Amino acid sequence: MTRPAGVPRVHEDLSEVLFDEEEIRAAVERIGARISEDYRDRDLVLVGVLKGSLFFLADLSRAISVPHQFDLVGAHSYRGVKPSEQVTVDKDISLDLRGRDVLIVEDIYDSGKTLKVVYDMVRLYQPANVEICALISKNVPREADLPVKYVAFEIEDVFVVGYGLDYRERYRHLKCIGALNPEVYE
Ligand code: IMP
Ligand code: MG
Repeated sequence: MTRPAGVPRVHEDLSEVLFDEEEIRAAVERIGARISEDYRDRDLVLVGVLKGSLFFLADLSRAISVPHQFDLVGAHSYRGVKPSEQVTVDKDISLDLRGRDVLIVEDIYDSGKTLKVVYDMVRLYQPANVEICALISKNVPREADLPVKYVAFEIEDVFVVGYGLDYRERYRHLKCIGALNPEVYE
C-alpha cells in the first residue's frame, strides 16, 4: 500500500534516536523522586503546557509519590521548526493557584519565550511560589532567564520529535525522542 501524499514516514524520518523509552522512563522516575522529596508537606500543583508536555506530565505525575493536583495551559510559539515571534495562549488555568506551590511542566526550554509567557501568567494567580520542570533544555542563547529547577535531558540546538514533541503536529506518539532528519523539513 502506498502512503497518502503528505503523510510522513515515522521512525525512518529520524536521523538519530537521542533517548529511548527506557532512558526516558529512568529520567522521569529520577525527577519524580526529587520532586517528591522537595514537595513533601507542600501543596503541589503541576501545570503542564499543551500539547508537548502531555506524555511527560502524565508520566511525571505518576512518578511523584506526594499528593498533588495538575492542570493544563495551552501556549505555543512554534510554526514548523522555527520559533515564531508570537506566543499564543489558547487555554487558561482552571484550578485556583492562590497561595499554592506551582511547578510548571514544559516539554522544551528553548529560547524561553513560551515559558516566560506561561510563568508570568501563572504568577498573576498569586501562587506561593513557581518553579519550572522541563523535559529538555536546549543549549541555546535565552531570551528569558527563568527558574528552571528540574531538567531531564540537555541537548544541543537540534530539532527533536517524539514523546509529545511534534513537527507540524506529527511524531508526538513516538516512544523515543529523536532528531528529525533535516531532509523532512528542508
Ligand atoms: P521557546 O518559546 O523558544 O522556548 O520554544 C519552546 C517551545 O517550542 C516548546 O514548548 C516546544 O513546543 C517548541 N519547540 C522548541 N524546540 C523544539 C523541538 O526541537 N522540537 C519540537 N518542538 C520544539
Ligand atoms: Mg510544538
